[in-house]
Amino acid sequence: MNVLVAGGAGYIGSHTVKQLKAAGHNPVIYDNGSRGHIEVVDILKVPAVVADLNDRATLSKALRDHKIDTVMHFAAYAYVGESVQKPLMYYQNNVATTVAVLECMQAAGVKRFVFSSTCATYGDPTSVPITEEEKKAPVSPYGRSKLMVENVLSDLVAADKQFSFAALRYFNASGCALDGTIGEDHDPETHLIPSAILAAMGMRPALTLFGTDYPTPDGTNVRDYIHVEDLADAHILAMQKLMPGQSVFCNLGTGRGFSNKEIIKAVEKVSGKTVPLTVGPRRAGDAIALWADPTRAKQLLGWEAKHKDPEVIIRSAWIWHSRHPRGYAGK
Ligand SMILES: NC(=O)c1ccc[n+]([C@@H]2O[C@H](COP(=O)([O-])OP(=O)(O)OC[C@H]3O[C@@H](n4cnc5c(N)ncnc54)[C@H](O)[C@@H]3O)[C@@H](O)[C@H]2O)c1
Repeated sequence: MNVLVAGGAGYIGSHTVKQLKAAGHNPVIYDNGSRGHIEVVDILKVPAVVADLNDRATLSKALRDHKIDTVMHFAAYAYVGESVQKPLMYYQNNVATTVAVLECMQAAGVKRFVFSSTCATYGDPTSVPITEEEKKAPVSPYGRSKLMVENVLSDLVAADKQFSFAALRYFNASGCALDGTIGEDHDPETHLIPSAILAAMGMRPALTLFGTDYPTPDGTNVRDYIHVEDLADAHILAMQKLMPGQSVFCNLGTGRGFSNKEIIKAVEKVSGKTVPLTVGPRRAGDAIALWADPTRAKQLLGWEAKHKDPEVIIRSAWIWHSRHPRGYAGK
């Protein structure tokens, strides 16, 4: 299939481009480079359009020129804290931009959409593991922006029976390409695994543990770490399974939770180095424990995470970060 990957120069988008290409599809990266790394275009050797998604003329031309069947939409801003500080920027880029993309798709007759949603749409769940039936009560503008798009998509499918979408609610995306070619490089980097690795490498002074008094076995938050290549595979399956008029809402996680301290211990084991730590206060909005019930993804998409052992995920990240201590720019 011909797939426009919006945000394809970013972390999850670039890994999905790689897997799409490996599976024989024709991905086209569309990215403005604001938060991703246009360097991946040369590494992945795929066509790319470097432009903003709000540039409707360029986007419409890309949809037509590349005879696009499916849009996978990874492009967004994705920092919870920043979304609290700058909510309008988040609603503009995560909601209004997505509406612009959907309008261009409608005009070009492109009917299949795979959307990066998030477990942040659930907010603080009433129980774990989290099923898709859990109440949607996001606690940040970021989470609300993603839930708003889910609602837009439901309204669109109700109005256009040829349209179809999958809203994939990721848990903690992590790891790097298993062949070491591409990796994770956010600025600032706030995700636990790369932050712990960078601290172990001496690239940052110490890793801050935000709260060690949570009601969990070791007092730290518990999360579900899903390898980025597993996420990519789920997108491809979703694209292939979607039928006109269908809406799919799916959790993407391993179904297993690991505490921050367990992950740090695993980073130390994989790297053979100590992770320097400082302890800070709890951060507002951090849920105690989040892990997915992945049953629906298995039933609907035939998808299950292949990499459930955090050490495998961490090893893939360790390999990439030790070769790229300053990320893509430092190469
Ligand atoms: N990383 C995670 O753990 C995680 C978890 C749940 C959901 N998500 C969602 O997955 C998606 C991808 O996350 P990521 O970590 O790869 O983010 P990322 O920041 O690495 O990638 C996003 C990409 O989108 C591009 N972009 C942003 N706005 C754009 C615009 N207006 N026009 C063109 N390009 C634009 C950026 O330049 C960047 O390359 C996001 O939508 C995010 O909300 C991520």
